[in-house]
Amino acid sequence: MSNLDIQKIREDFPILKRQVNAKPLVYLDNGATTQKPQVVIDAILEYYTDMNSNVHRGVHYLSQISTDAFEVTRRKVQEFINAKHDYEVIITKGTTDSINLVATCYGREFVQAGDEIIVSAMEHHSNIVPWQMICEDRGATLKVIPMNEAGELDMDAYESLLNGKTKLVSVNYVSNALGTINPVREIIQKAHAIGVPVLIDAAQAVQHIKIDVQELDVDFLAFSGHKMYGPTGVGVLYGKEEWLNKMPPYQGGGDMIKDVTFEKTTYNELPFKFEAGTPNIEAGIALNAAIDYINDLGIDNIKAYEDELLAYATEQLSTVEGIRFIGTAKEKSSVISFVVDGTHPYDIGVLLDKLGIAVRTGHHCAQPVMDQFQIPGTVRASLAVYNTKEEIDALVAGVKRATAMLV
Ligand code: ALA
Repeated sequence: MSNLDIQKIREDFPILKRQVNAKPLVYLDNGATTQKPQVVIDAILEYYTDMNSNVHRGVHYLSQISTDAFEVTRRKVQEFINAKHDYEVIITKGTTDSINLVATCYGREFVQAGDEIIVSAMEHHSNIVPWQMICEDRGATLKVIPMNEAGELDMDAYESLLNGKTKLVSVNYVSNALGTINPVREIIQKAHAIGVPVLIDAAQAVQHIKIDVQELDVDFLAFSGHKMYGPTGVGVLYGKEEWLNKMPPYQGGGDMIKDVTFEKTTYNELPFKFEAGTPNIEAGIALNAAIDYINDLGIDNIKAYEDELLAYATEQLSTVEGIRFIGTAKEKSSVISFVVDGTHPYDIGVLLDKLGIAVRTGHHCAQPVMDQFQIPGTVRASLAVYNTKEEIDALVAGVKRATAMLV
């Protein structure tokens, strides 16, 4: 049993008090983005009210305090994921930006014609397309770790894909479409055994599961602020110092340079080499409040509660006639994807919305997953720490009502 006071937690999220279509909001689209606690909203407000100014540029007071606040977040992220150095934390726009950064910069430096990059069959488009682009550019090939009908990776097939041509492995920790928790430790160990670095897309993991980058020995880790109770437009790329130092810059512009002349530019040191231009300052600063919020609740408490809720939701949804769960891995986190015989996911989503229930429907930016299961998409309920069993009951009743209308 969880030791969190969920009703008290709900009080921290003003939006949860609102109604949608004259019904209390039941927000189950947390995989797309989580709601924000008041402390995060306040941090954004405080930035614009009290300290708005650019970072890393000014000698004046406001610039000093906003720079300090921005850099506090970097150190908070460092602690949160246990990075060895704060300069291994690059502040980006989000997971997509972080992955594109590695694909572009690592790709330009290390990927040659004939090389191979490995992803998995359950990746989000943001962990497929950037690699396809760099493969196309370099004449390299994308290899895919297959998965079984439960949505679990075939680890034997993975091992046989690893070879002397492999230049990088990039997989998600938790699948956004299936909820599978992947065996990332084993994936990293096997790649390292032949000297290949690994990127972990932790967009759907970092808000649910404790991550220690040194213990995992992961080379790159990407995640977003807005899926962890923080603001949109900010995310993180963690990279081991030795890799980041070997990679060329991502974008050119202010802040990433040491000296510029028309003949030659020299680049700034880490982390600024990868942070061209004015960042999303208020989001960067408010991310600190989001991490504090998670730390105050305790990530292990969050996971224990969400696991309980996931088990309850799976059990209760099983009573829906004709339901088929997509993603039944033994190790799962916070995502329940399903289809119901004789219905289209979109129609269920629209009818649930009429009841004030927010779910995501469609391919969830993971079209290859839907192709494997030969479905157009799923209905996806994705959970956060403020969700309740009563909300699950509302979802189950809503799905039953919708299917009664549609079938
Ligand atoms: N990647 C986000 C999701 O799974 C948007 O919904």
